Amino acid sequence: MDLFKPINSYYDFENIKMVPEGELITRNLSDMDWMYQDQEAVKELLKKDPQIYRYYNVDIPEEEGHLQHCISIINPGKVGNEYNMTKGHFHEIKGTAEIYYTIQGEGMLFMQSVTDGEPEFEALEMKKGSLSYVPPHWAHRTINTGEEPLAFIGIYPGEAGHVYGDIEEKGFMKLLIEKDGEPTIIDNPNYK
Ligand code: F6R
Ligand code: ZN
Repeated sequence: MDLFKPINSYYDFENIKMVPEGELITRNLSDMDWMYQDQEAVKELLKKDPQIYRYYNVDIPEEEGHLQHCISIINPGKVGNEYNMTKGHFHEIKGTAEIYYTIQGEGMLFMQSVTDGEPEFEALEMKKGSLSYVPPHWAHRTINTGEEPLAFIGIYPGEAGHVYGDIEEKGFMKLLIEKDGEPTIIDNPNYK
């Protein structure tokens, strides 16, 4: 048996990154431009194509028994009046859960499930120290509503895998926009 050796990773608060970096994945606006409601704002922002978020995956075997873990960082900002967010996904093995632990910033965790016909939606607050549980069968997306980066640790089963297609095509049933200076959850008129 190949014995996997224990390893440490660190969050560098000053430089807002994980050390060692592991696998770094960056998502710019152009990677998810159709997901935002205000396409005029998208068009304008695409001239600079800002980075919306990035995440650092610790290199762990994608196998049962292991725990994948990563640090995600969503930059502060909005596209029109909609806050910066991740694409969101289901786990490929839908019966796998995830834990998010917020280490910096503030935001929201959107979850939706369509397991038994009727679509269901839930939202949880994220702030420094919040420990959020994403149960099996819930798609999840994170949103930065603050002025600083939103950084959180995600921990999930090694075999979980990720599926983006469903959310890419149908979207989330709710959006988080700034209204009268406050984060406000509204129905997504484009949800299919
Ligand atoms: C892993 C997980 C997070 C996200 C990351 C980026 O299962 O939920 O690590 O992968 O926050 O978001 P997505 O994957 O939606 O681009
Ligand atoms: Zn996940």
